Amino acid sequence: MNEEKQISAIKQYSYDKMKNDSTGHNFDHIQRVVATAEQILQTEPADKLVTLAAAYLHDVADDKLVQDPQKLEQEIHSFLLDINLSKKQADEILYITHNLSFSKSLNSPPKLSLSGQIVQDADRLDAIGAIGITRAIYYGGKHSETIYDPEIPPRKNLNKSEYRNLKNETIINHFYEKLLKLTEMMNTTTAKKIAQARHQYMLDFLTEFKSEWNIKK
Ligand code: ADP
Ligand code: NI
Repeated sequence: MNEEKQISAIKQYSYDKMKNDSTGHNFDHIQRVVATAEQILQTEPADKLVTLAAAYLHDVADDKLVQDPQKLEQEIHSFLLDINLSKKQADEILYITHNLSFSKSLNSPPKLSLSGQIVQDADRLDAIGAIGITRAIYYGGKHSETIYDPEIPPRKNLNKSEYRNLKNETIINHFYEKLLKLTEMMNTTTAKKIAQARHQYMLDFLTEFKSEWNIKK
């Protein structure tokens, strides 16, 4: 199987796993992460197959989405060997998908290869800007979060377990607790550049949101 065929088999596998997701990780998110990773690859000398495979597979075994993430990681690993990736490539892809998340980057961040850094940047770029705002509202609605409560101050410097066990989360606080931190956490120069405008868009959104909110006080 040549590289192009391997990538389309991985795309199909990811589609089959993600198509019914309703937690904001729909396949459209995956496709944007892949497209952004391709864009970043143009300026970074990383392995294309490993990068795109990790982009397609990065949310498949997310513990928010599946009951037994370890079992699914083993399944993905066997699938990659079945389509003739080497054990080294499969190991690297699984290491990336396992260590990508924002919460894992709090405390002591795992060291990622250049491919991993690119996929992490692409995933984070999809969490900011207009799409990021929409995904946060969608996620917050689905989890019955309050939209905004000025009595609950944002907790800006959370560690991993505090972030994972947040109580009384509000959609607006999520911006301060995660989304506004992502720009300075970007790994690659290309992602840093794309992030600037999206970051400003969120700041403008928050300013406008609060001015409209305060009209009733
Ligand atoms: P990903 O790994 O693709 O970034 P996550 O599972 O962390 O996704 O979150 C999915 C989307 O929902 C992201 O855009 C994220 O910022 C948003 N999100 C995660 N947690 C919350 C929350 N508590 N409130 C609002 N939005 C959230
Ligand atoms: Ni993702």
